[in-house]
Amino acid sequence: MSHVRFEDGAWGEPELGPVQPFAFHPAAHVLHYGSACFEGLKAHRGQDNVVRIFRAAAHVARMRQSAGLLCLPVPPADMLETMIRTVTKASEAEVPAAPGSLYLRPTLVGTEENVGAAAAPSATALLFVLAGPVGDYFSGGIRPLTLAIETEQPRTTPQYGMVKSGANYVMALRPTLEAKKNVGADQVLFAPGGVVQETGAANFMLIDAERVITPALTTSFLHGVTRDSLLTLARDRGFTVEERDVTVDEVIEWARRPDAEAGLSGTAAVLSPVGTLVHKGERIAIGTGGVGEHSMRLRSALTDLHIGAVPDPYGWLTLP
Ligand SMILES: Cc1ncc(COP(=O)(O)O)c(C=O)c1O
Repeated sequence: MSHVRFEDGAWGEPELGPVQPFAFHPAAHVLHYGSACFEGLKAHRGQDNVVRIFRAAAHVARMRQSAGLLCLPVPPADMLETMIRTVTKASEAEVPAAPGSLYLRPTLVGTEENVGAAAAPSATALLFVLAGPVGDYFSGGIRPLTLAIETEQPRTTPQYGMVKSGANYVMALRPTLEAKKNVGADQVLFAPGGVVQETGAANFMLIDAERVITPALTTSFLHGVTRDSLLTLARDRGFTVEERDVTVDEVIEWARRPDAEAGLSGTAAVLSPVGTLVHKGERIAIGTGGVGEHSMRLRSALTDLHIGAVPDPYGWLTLP
């Protein structure tokens, strides 16, 4: 773990050390007013046994954007990227071979000791980067996921969906647990007013032999780094990429075509196939309801790049 504090208007020197608990004053800003944001990215062990970090700069940029929108001190990009590299380097021996990886979790919290600061930003903050080995998201092989479509409740607010803050996740928890219990869904696809946003932990895309269609970026959902990577790979493989409004009606119409596919994209999900939608009590298969070949082709394009099995013309991989 690496950590650094923001005090007296300035960042200190990041320190690398073993994972250990932090002590918080009970009046710490984060414990009362939710001043916290985080990131999630991975380092992969390549076929050549070299460990490389995937799209660190994009995750650092998103964390800086989250910090700014939450009125937290914004960590300098080079300091945060160096912390990520230092922690990865120190954990190199523990990075499993693919499909495992090293998960990196930069986190920023407001620490000012003042319960009276509800309407004031935290003057002090703590930034840390945790790391730990993770296995494959699908332990028993890739299986198509079931999504419950939620048209009443948004995942979070229209303005702050693009912020990677714990508050957004806890707000999505109750509808997700209810959908799991009531209809056996893996995730909820939030589509307030019938316009698709994303799920609780991944972006959503429609895929077929020629096209990838996904909601255009708005402030209402997280701008996934995996989404951006997959769209780039899709364009370079001749797919037409459409970033625009996607309605629930369109998704249901799409699902009824025999060659239709859909997927969830994210650092954990990579590109996970969606086989079934649950809408107003009806279960609707997407295409065959199975694992789509075009989704798997795009997924492999990304995982091959992660492990250096194909060249990286985009400069997305960096050494620790
Ligand atoms: C709510 C949400 N949307 C989308 C994503 C995908 O983002 P990324 O591809 O940067 O991991 C995530 C994180 O994995 C997420 O938590």
